[in-house]
Amino acid sequence: MFYNDLAQIPVPAKFYSSAGVRKASKEEFQMNLKKIWAQQFRRPSGILGHYAAGFMKKNNFPYYEEMVELLDIQDCDRVLEIGCGDGHAVKLISGKNTQCRIDAIDFSDLMLRKAKKNNHQCLRNGRVRLFEGDFRMFDRFDCRYTAVFAINVVYFWNNLEEPFRKVHNLLEKNGRFIFYMSSPERIDKIPFAVKDVFNRHSLEKVKEVLIETGFENLKVTTEVKNGTDTYYVKAVKHR
Ligand SMILES: C[S@@+](CC[C@H](N)C(=O)[O-])C[C@H]1O[C@@H](n2cnc3c(N)ncnc32)[C@H](O)[C@@H]1O
Repeated sequence: MFYNDLAQIPVPAKFYSSAGVRKASKEEFQMNLKKIWAQQFRRPSGILGHYAAGFMKKNNFPYYEEMVELLDIQDCDRVLEIGCGDGHAVKLISGKNTQCRIDAIDFSDLMLRKAKKNNHQCLRNGRVRLFEGDFRMFDRFDCRYTAVFAINVVYFWNNLEEPFRKVHNLLEKNGRFIFYMSSPERIDKIPFAVKDVFNRHSLEKVKEVLIETGFENLKVTTEVKNGTDTYYVKAVKHR
């Protein structure tokens, strides 16, 4: 599993002597390395960001496909993806349904450049729009959506209430919000998923906040991967 490979980056002994760093700081150094990797998954940038993007593309593909199934996009849909990364899910959707309109937002300019490349045709004809910015702060949405989705993004939100409320406000009546997330137990198995970057949200907490923010008809599809749970959570805005 790639997560393990990343965490096993060796710290050369000579680093400590030649750089004059105290041996006692080895743990600190490894923790910093983990944090650097974790940040690359939260907001990829620079050369390391290209590596992180490559890992995500390779490993997250099954989630995009499952997500597209669950979204069940119709011609009349107006879709928003939060944290679109390199835009592969957008590409899958626009390839499957040639009528729906898709917007996507990401705050990594590296990922947005990749997303633009992957969706240049649909960007040109206006079916797809890509926004750069932090979803939580972004105030230039100019329409409401029938479907909003996110894959592997909720960990980076300390507080779920604010973004969930925003999604609720952006949805049309009967609009659906679907997101994919790993359970805290699964996140714990990612060696570099340090707690101050990757929030652990339990399914119970997620459901509670969805209900508090006005969502109804909660439906969870659980997939077990290497003995730990992952979830596709679907919620509907009825009012
Ligand atoms: C772990 S990656 C997942 C990318 C893609 N959804 C996938 O599954 O391959 C998280 C992505 O969400 C973006 N992101 C995280 N928090 C965000 C926020 N608050 N607003 C916009 N983009 C965000 C990051 O820049 C990154 O591209």
